[in-house]
Amino acid sequence: MEGNVRTAEQGKKDSPGESEISVSQLNRDDSVKPCVMVVLGASGDLTRRKLMPALYHLDRQGLLGERFILVGFARSPKDDEQFRREMAEAVEKHVPGEAFSQEAWRRFSARLHYLSGRYDDPQSYEALTRFLREAGIPCGSHGLLMYLATPPSVTEAALNCMRRSLFHKAGGRDNKSRLMIEKPFGWDLASARRLNQVLGEMFSESQIYRIDHYLAKDTIQNILVLRFANAIFEPLWNRKYIDNVQITAAEEIGVENRGSYYEQAGVVRDMLQSHVLQVLSLVAMEPPVAGDAESVRDKKVEVFKSVTPIERDDYVLGQYRGYGGEPSVNPSSTTPTFVAARLFINNWRWQGVPFYVRSGKCLAKKLTEVTIQFANVPLCVLRTEGVCPVSQPNRLIIRIQPDEGIQLSFSTRVPGWDEETALASMDFRYASFGARLPDAYERILLDGMRGNPTLFWRADGIEAAWQVITPLLQAPGETAPPVLYEPGSWGPPEAEHRKRPANPCSL
Ligand code: NDP
Ligand code: BG6
Repeated sequence: MEGNVRTAEQGKKDSPGESEISVSQLNRDDSVKPCVMVVLGASGDLTRRKLMPALYHLDRQGLLGERFILVGFARSPKDDEQFRREMAEAVEKHVPGEAFSQEAWRRFSARLHYLSGRYDDPQSYEALTRFLREAGIPCGSHGLLMYLATPPSVTEAALNCMRRSLFHKAGGRDNKSRLMIEKPFGWDLASARRLNQVLGEMFSESQIYRIDHYLAKDTIQNILVLRFANAIFEPLWNRKYIDNVQITAAEEIGVENRGSYYEQAGVVRDMLQSHVLQVLSLVAMEPPVAGDAESVRDKKVEVFKSVTPIERDDYVLGQYRGYGGEPSVNPSSTTPTFVAARLFINNWRWQGVPFYVRSGKCLAKKLTEVTIQFANVPLCVLRTEGVCPVSQPNRLIIRIQPDEGIQLSFSTRVPGWDEETALASMDFRYASFGARLPDAYERILLDGMRGNPTLFWRADGIEAAWQVITPLLQAPGETAPPVLYEPGSWGPPEAEHRKRPANPCSL
């Protein structure tokens, strides 16, 4: 085996055990890790379902450092003990049975603390300041990581209050603390710009980590490896050989207990503006000049800036039947839970190639994947009796989740006397490495602590992405109400009509 390279087969044979694989590849440098992580909105769903299980896993892999402590902050009154009990229940529920150890949890949970306060109350930030002083972590120091896990409606007010408090000012011009902020980043272009401005007055860009957990999924990071570490794909990766690109982020679940958030967000803000556009930018970007964060982010921003304005005929919004009956949802709500859109990227590489994107809740199954559909052969020389046997275009399918893998389909001759062809496929599965894929939130938290911004949005990128989806965010009444679709289906049939079939093989 050469350098870091290991094959899937080798991975299977010499796998030293799940956690060791990822840990051995990481540099355990304690000096770059924050000692205190303050989570605003810590009584919420994200903290329970994603942050705590991810931190627990990181701790078990020895990646949090001995001095790590977490301070949960939210309005709900509770003490450290109650917070720890609730977090224990959450972690036990979300960490698979064999991976949960009572002993490990007991050690980890001793580092969890809770402070109750209001996000827009200066005195609450003073209490936080005192807490940190007593813990020996000066405000504004490199050892402080703030995590905003609050709904977007709360975030701007929280930042404005924090900005004026000693909690933020104590660091002075030399403030070295970092801030991670959850999606959606604002509600539209104007609010995202406002948020960027507030953040820009508090921190330098390198201290701000705008989260999109899809970027931290291994399979999404692999898109760049697939494209730029293999010689066979990139020469074909353009309008000459690709007929269309399809990006699907389908969910089986409905809005569950997040009705009040979802009512305001809808699928366009919740999934399209963030996760789906990020995947699109990785598929469509030009090769970066280097692999560092800024070079990659520069190329992604270029993609967003090249998307032609989406027109009314280019998208369908849908709503699953029964959405109005979900908890905290207005019975006559027009919030879309499904979107399908056709985008065009106006540059030399992609001119004229449609990118079909779709996302929705309550669909047939959970599935995130990218399909690169190649153009048909220019001329069918194998036809017999006027029939071209090459009827199916080649497809490269990048399965982001579940059953993570990559599949390439191609035509092949069916053995026998008949001149018959069939579609065959080469299939790679991540499972063949035999390693656990770390949860995206483990990666996000670790990168935030280590100060690696590659997997986070930059200010100009997020504004450019809002610009792309602005036509889908018109005021209620200006757009038609969403089309109803059946839960368990693939969305409204109208969405299928937006798809253009691959160019037929020329006979
Ligand atoms: P929640 O709705 O659970 O809110 C988090 C906390 O914020 C609540 O516990 C509550 O705490 C406080 N809060 C909620 N609404 C208000 C309000 N109107 N005014 C003041 N405080 C309020 O959100 P999540 O935890 O689900 O999400 C947090 C952030 O993470 C959001 O930006 C979301 O988009 C993002 N996110 C969430 C994911 C998830 O799976 N949940 C996945 C990816 C991103 P208290 O009342 O105690 O102050
Ligand atoms: C979140 C959205 O960002 O992503 C949720 O707010 C959605 O609505 C979730 O369910 C999907 O993430 P994943 O990782 O389960 O595909």
